[in-house]
Amino acid sequence: MAAPINVWDYERLAEEKLDANAHAYFAGGAGDEVTLRENVAAFERRKLRPRVLVDVRTVSAATTVLGTDIELPVLIAPVALQRIAHRDGELATARAAAAAGTIMCLSTAATVRPAEVAAAAPEAARWFQVYVFGDRSLTEELIAEAVENGFSALVLTVDVPYLGRRERDLRVDFKIPEHLTPAGDIFGLGFDAGASWRDLEWLAGHGGPVVVKGILTAEDARLACEHGAAAVVVSNHGGRQLDGVPAALDALEEVVEAVDGRAE
Ligand code: LAC
Repeated sequence: MAAPINVWDYERLAEEKLDANAHAYFAGGAGDEVTLRENVAAFERRKLRPRVLVDVRTVSAATTVLGTDIELPVLIAPVALQRIAHRDGELATARAAAAAGTIMCLSTAATVRPAEVAAAAPEAARWFQVYVFGDRSLTEELIAEAVENGFSALVLTVDVPYLGRRERDLRVDFKIPEHLTPAGDIFGLGFDAGASWRDLEWLAGHGGPVVVKGILTAEDARLACEHGAAAVVVSNHGGRQLDGVPAALDALEEVVEAVDGRAE
């Protein structure tokens, strides 16, 4: 293939280059992958309403999020296990995020430590994604390392009380390669299905802003604001958790209205 020129080209390259185990994990969604497909289809349903003759000699997509300047309104989601895709994994992603001038969110289930990511792109803005594990001490340890290494926000993922039913992973009997066991072993340790809104308050007590990731309804958007969220990520986890929920883009208006300016 000629040099990739858009995201679809990269997806095709990935399918060619990744082994079946890795490709199943990164490309798959939960259940019948209805929500996985909807996440993209929703964008195709929206139409732009252009205006003209408005002097566009200088245009910029730059904006800010939680006080951090970013060059474009796109952040890098906390994709887990990135060294299964490439030996540089999350370190390459950190360098790319810095080059693009945006924020990388590092997964708790990363295949490199927070300190290594900080060293890979020291000047770059970075956030740290947190699961509430049954063993809170592991969560505490990872948060301490992230905060010590300049991760400026914690992102609490709230839509994984149990991991989604990823049928592609079942078909390939997905395994994490021995040498890549993540710091936060999401397949071994187990998430705390008993996590509650009090856990958000616990995290907010760590001092920095806490972003709540995985909100799809007005009711939970209000609860997130009431329990200390500095920002809300409207997300269905890339269609990898509960299949059949709306596309993130289709849930956006309901959540923005419920947040009503109390959080980003
Ligand atoms: C996943 C979890 C680890 O989607 O975020 O695989």
